[in-house]
This record gives sequence, structure tokens and C-alpha cells, in this order.
Amino acid sequence: MSELSTESITEAVLQRLAGTPDPRLKFISEALVRHLHAFIEEVRPSFGEWEAAIDFLTSVGQMCTRERQEFILLSDTLGASMLVDAINAPRDPRATESTVLGPFYLDDPPQFENGAIIDGGREGVPLLIEGEVLDSEGNRRGGAIVDVWQSDAEGAYDVQNPESTTYLRGRFTCDGAGRFSLWSIVPSSYAIPNDGPVGKMLAAQARHPFRPAHVHFRITSPGCSSLTTHIFVKGDEYLDSDAVFGVKESLIEDLPLHEPNEAPIGRLLDRPFSWLRRTFVLAPVPHQA
Ligand code: BEZ
Ligand code: FE
Repeated sequence: MSELSTESITEAVLQRLAGTPDPRLKFISEALVRHLHAFIEEVRPSFGEWEAAIDFLTSVGQMCTRERQEFILLSDTLGASMLVDAINAPRDPRATESTVLGPFYLDDPPQFENGAIIDGGREGVPLLIEGEVLDSEGNRRGGAIVDVWQSDAEGAYDVQNPESTTYLRGRFTCDGAGRFSLWSIVPSSYAIPNDGPVGKMLAAQARHPFRPAHVHFRITSPGCSSLTTHIFVKGDEYLDSDAVFGVKESLIEDLPLHEPNEAPIGRLLDRPFSWLRRTFVLAPVPHQA
């Protein structure tokens, strides 16, 4: 039996992986070992530091529940989620850019008719959202399904309060011309959940936990790639320092105030409202190699 040195340990582990039957798993495992060993060589952790690293990952796992996914927050705050997004984003420059899904998506939201009010009685500046969904050839995607979710004016999502009912989220079906519409309220910037190990990490790195105000959209239509994106509110103080690196210039929109009497028929308002009108373009489904 030969002694293993810092030079030969990497090779020894790689050799042990050589028989991995699934080629993709073999490739991923080998890359993980090479990069992990190179990281350890660079950092040269003490025993105490290595134990602290294992304790940190353990506490990230222990924080996870059905409602709280601390590993996603870790991936988001280290920029890993946006890197995966960039690698997988459709290459079509005509398509609307994507950004992170985040932990507050529900795959069975309440369904609404177009024009519905989804504020659930939350206070805030009324926001009329009128969208149209096209494919990258400019065809209108009638029947496209649009999921919308956002924080309230205090920066909280419905799912963060187990006692609250669902609000500020819903599923809409586009009309024959690919249009959808709804009334919500102007969202606010908010701190990502920071009462766990990821919050401690951010504090230790002297980073704030805030995301700029945004509305989330997830849009699907047969024959098109699905789109997961946000629209950010122009002028937000955190646009340049989003805790999860999700901001893209093309996704920032101005939401100027309009007088109540400019509201379309169907809503009587006694105060000014904001109006978001936006076209979303879906890329084609990628060809399988
Ligand atoms: C969100 O936008 O909902 C979000 C994204 C990443 C981490 C936390 C929240
Ligand atoms: Fe969000």
C-alpha cells in the first residue's frame, strides 16, 4: 500500500471514480474533486476552520423546511443561481431576459380572470399590470399561462406569514391576442430571509440582505421556452446591490403615477395609481442535441 501525499491524494480519488458508469455523473464527480482539492490547497484551512465550514453547511441543511430553503438562499447569495441561469438562458437576443425564481414561488397559485384585483386588501399604491406575450417571431401567444407573485408594500410575501391567506399572487390565462392584466400594488424592496446561517454569512461579509422592489413573472406557452423573470421598479435604491445579483438593465421599468380618472373602465379609484405595460417575449424551445 503506497502512502498518499498532498500531491497524490487528488489522483487517487480520481482513479477511484474511474468506474462511474454514468458519463455525466463521472464528469461532474471528477470536476468536483479537482476543484474541491484545489480550493483546499489554496485556502489551507486549519482543523478549526474545516469544522466551522462543516458546521455551517450542517446548519444550512437544518434550517431547511417545506417553507424555507436555505440552500437556495446560499446559492443565490453566492451568485451561483444567476450563473446557472446565465448558462441555461436561451441564446435568442429577442427573448425577454430571465432571472432567479426565488423561494417564494408556488406552483398551484389561485387562478384569476384578467383584470382581477389580487391585492388581498393590502395597503399600497394601486398598480395596473398589462402584459402581452409574444414569441421571438412576433407571434402573439394566445392562451399563454402567466404566474405573477410579489411582496407587499412592507416587503413581505404571503407565504412568509403562515397565518395569512394568499395575496399578491395568481395565475392568469392570456386572451387570444396574448394579453393579460391585473391590479396589484406597487411592491417594496425587502430583506431576503436573514435569520439563519445565510444571514450570518452576509453579516460577516458586511453585506446587506436587500433585494430591489420587483414583480415576479413565470410564463409558459406550448412550443416556447418557459420564462422566469422579474420586472424591477426604476429608481429603487438597491438596483445596483441586489443581495442575489438578479438585476438586469432590460428588466427595469419606470412606474410613474397616473391620475385616478385615467384608470381604465372597470376600476374606480380615489387616489393615483401606477401602470406597468410590458411585452414579454418567449424564446423557442431549444433543439435537443
Ligand atoms: C425573491 O425574489 O423572491 C428572492 C430571490 C432570491 C432569494 C430570496 C428571495
Ligand atoms: Fe421576490
